[in-house]
Amino acid sequence: MKTDFLIIGSGIAGLSLGLRLSEFGTVIIITKKKKAESNTNYAQGGIASVLGKEDNFDLHIKDTLECGAGLCNVKAVETIVREGPESIYELLSLGVKFTRDENGNLKLGREGGHSKNRIVHAKDLTGKEIERVLLYKASKNPKIKILEYHFAIELLTVRNIKPEFRKVIKNKYTCFGAYTLNAKTGKVEKIVANKTIIATGGLGQVYLHTTNPAIATGDGFALGYRAGCELANMEFVQFHPTTLYQKEIEEDTQVFLISEAVRGAGAILKNKNGKEFMHKYDKRKSLAPRDIVARAIDSELKRTGDNFVYLDATVIGEERLKKEFPNIYQQCLNRGLDISKSMIPVVPAAHYSCGGLKVNIEGKTNIKNLYACGEVAMTGVHGANRLASNSLLEAVVFSKKIYESIRNEYKRNNNNKQNTEVKNIEKFIFNWSEKGTANAEEWILIKHNKLEIKEIMSDYVGIVRSTYRLKRALRRIKMMKDEIKEFYDRTKVSVDLLELRNLVTVAYIIIKSAMKRKESRGLHYMLDYPKRDDINFKKDTIIFKRIKLQ
Ligand code: FAD
Ligand code: SIN
Repeated sequence: MKTDFLIIGSGIAGLSLGLRLSEFGTVIIITKKKKAESNTNYAQGGIASVLGKEDNFDLHIKDTLECGAGLCNVKAVETIVREGPESIYELLSLGVKFTRDENGNLKLGREGGHSKNRIVHAKDLTGKEIERVLLYKASKNPKIKILEYHFAIELLTVRNIKPEFRKVIKNKYTCFGAYTLNAKTGKVEKIVANKTIIATGGLGQVYLHTTNPAIATGDGFALGYRAGCELANMEFVQFHPTTLYQKEIEEDTQVFLISEAVRGAGAILKNKNGKEFMHKYDKRKSLAPRDIVARAIDSELKRTGDNFVYLDATVIGEERLKKEFPNIYQQCLNRGLDISKSMIPVVPAAHYSCGGLKVNIEGKTNIKNLYACGEVAMTGVHGANRLASNSLLEAVVFSKKIYESIRNEYKRNNNNKQNTEVKNIEKFIFNWSEKGTANAEEWILIKHNKLEIKEIMSDYVGIVRSTYRLKRALRRIKMMKDEIKEFYDRTKVSVDLLELRNLVTVAYIIIKSAMKRKESRGLHYMLDYPKRDDINFKKDTIIFKRIKLQ
């Protein structure tokens, strides 16, 4: 297959970019499961944007920078904040139905770390509503083709070009598309593209407890890493403080989120004896930024030996809960819990990756013709800790930045959209080879390995870390990485195997990045370096060294 634009992922980033880029040519969007299955589809709280009368850009910028603990890229933050309202209007014009107040104005909710009400939402199902509209628009667009059950295995780079033609490639760090596994037929297809965009979302599934659905196995981070991309800030994995406590966890469980918007509406964290505890940790109490709240809960649980703390939403009242949080109310009721009468048992869970493929303000990676957008990208917006509801905003604003950058490039080149140095490049790229591989007989290995990776990451690389724990994790993950590589080299590719390979790669990158940051900052809390003022702050971004292409 050949296309102008190959987009990997059908969440908010991939779809909104696909709709924009269709103006310039053909778009193929591949997605590993059904097209709606994405982190986006589960987003609850909403999108942060300055729309209230008492709000202004400076306040949103200040809140984002404060939350990011000194590591945000100010230009990137200013960009999402200033272009936020326009993006919300664009979503509205596409048909997204955000919740309105009695006067017909957009209703603005509140979440942790925000100094004003600025969360635009569609009740507590914001992501589902956005995904619905973007998918509908994409389905009506003749330039866009969405391929479900197509799993991106590897990016096409100079390595995949037949050796005799490699010398004509001027820039060896160039991307030409991707090999993808058609999970329905089991065949590997080659999709050649002028521009490739990674929009594969997050990596929550590298941990045992996560709000992320099963698709979030960090594929895009690993794809980029293997192709030679720089990654940055990978040590900053955000744990959401309030997810519904669940006793039994299986290998790809998604725990149910109790949105921060519930705390924004008045719910309060309490311990098992019904006593508030957040005042001991931060003056903003239950509405402090996420890193602080998650660490406070973790510390309470360690101190008391309890399995969970409580979120008391009874104060909000049955009527409001049913009206404003119908999904959360119903989902809890389905599990036998009436949240208007009983407190909700909650624990923190892995939620969001602040780090990712390092991109510039135009969404470009360090590889030519390769872009990254959405959660997989590290734009510099989130720094060491993301402010609530800034993720959907970042995805839509940066999809526009990529669109503008490509538009300008085409203008500069007098509308010549061919970007590759070699004409008919597809002829010079190897087809996928299965030589030397066989069907796996040891599936049990994959299942066990997945669980083992998640247990190691949760036990040693979670909310509270130490050099000792990280070293222990690295030793184990390194060994598994080698074993999985050896297994991969002799086995026909399958979705399970590819995900396992990506999970172990991402675990490795997170641990290595965490070991490099010898301080406690934002989401990265080290017992060896507990107090911020004890240490000499090195305010730099840790870039994970890219590998060399042969
Ligand atoms: P996703 O929406 O995750 O889409 C990724 C896509 O890539 C999927 O289609 C997936 O199938 C595909 N994919 C992945 N790997 C491959 C592969 N190898 N080959 C082919 N396709 C692949 N943020 C907010 O700002 N506000 C909120 O209220 C909010 N609530 C949240 C609630 C929950 C429960 C969760 C999990 C997250 C929430 N977030 C929220 C975070 C936000 O939803 C995500 O960061 C955002 O949706 C990511 O969008 P994306 O397009 O980058 O990725
Ligand atoms: C939530 O609704 O609490 C999630 C918001 C976010 O992750 O930004």
